[in-house]
Amino acid sequence: MRLDKFLADTGWGSRKEVKKLLKQGVITVNDLVKKDGKTQVDENSDRVAYAGEILHYQKYFYYMLHKPQGVISATEDKYDETVLDLLSDEDFREDLFPVGRLDKDTEGLLVLTNDGQLAHRLLSPKKHVDKEYFARISGVVTEEDIQMFKEGFALKNGETVKSSQLFIDSIDDSEKLSEIRLVIQEGKFHQVKRMFEAVDKKVVYLKRLRMGALYLDEALALGEYRPLTENELILLETRVCLKR
Ligand code: URA
Repeated sequence: MRLDKFLADTGWGSRKEVKKLLKQGVITVNDLVKKDGKTQVDENSDRVAYAGEILHYQKYFYYMLHKPQGVISATEDKYDETVLDLLSDEDFREDLFPVGRLDKDTEGLLVLTNDGQLAHRLLSPKKHVDKEYFARISGVVTEEDIQMFKEGFALKNGETVKSSQLFIDSIDDSEKLSEIRLVIQEGKFHQVKRMFEAVDKKVVYLKRLRMGALYLDEALALGEYRPLTENELILLETRVCLKR
C-alpha cells in the first residue's frame, strides 16, 4: 500500500496532514527517510517509523464506551456534546462512529469504531444480535407483561415488535416502581421506551448492559472508554450469551 495511506489509516491524520508530516522528514521506511506519500510499503514486513519509533499498521479501531446521559450518539451536533467528544485528542479520528444509537438520556454500552462492515453485521435485523437493557420502570411490571413481550406485540402506533425476554429484578409495590432487564434483538427507534408505553408504563432510567455476548465493563466510569480486546470483539458478534 502507499505510505500516505498507511499513515492515514494508522491515525496520523488526513492525507493532507500526512503529506505535511512526510515533508518534515520524520518518517522512515526500513531506516531510510521517505518524503513521498506514493512510496509503496508492505504493512506486514516493512519497518515504518516516526522519529525512530516503529508504527504498527492498524486500519480498524474499536472502543467500548460507557455512555453517560446528556451526550448524543452522533458524530457531530450543533448544540449537544456527542459521544466522539468524549475521546481524547490521541484517540479521536474523523472516521469513528457509534454502532447504533442510544437516546440522549440512556446510559451504558456503546461501541465506537471505524469498521463499517462490523456495524452493518451488528445492526442488521437479520442477525438477531441481543441487546440487553436494565431499566427502572414507573409502574408494576407483571407476569402478563412478560408473556406479552415473549409473544411479540403491536406498539401504540401499530408497529410490531418481535419476541423479547423480560426479567423482573425487583418490584416496589408501595412506590409502584419496577426494576427489569429486557433482551431484544431489534433496534427500533426508542424501542424499549415504546414497548413499556404499550403496556401503560414509563421507563424512567435506561442502561444498555450487553450487545451480543459482550457486557459493559463496569470498571469503566460514566464517560470513560477503552479499546476492545480481540476476545471482546468476538464476543460482540456472538449471538448466544450463556451468562445471565
Ligand atoms: N430503547 C430506547 O428506548 N432507548 C434507547 O436508548 C435504547 C433502546
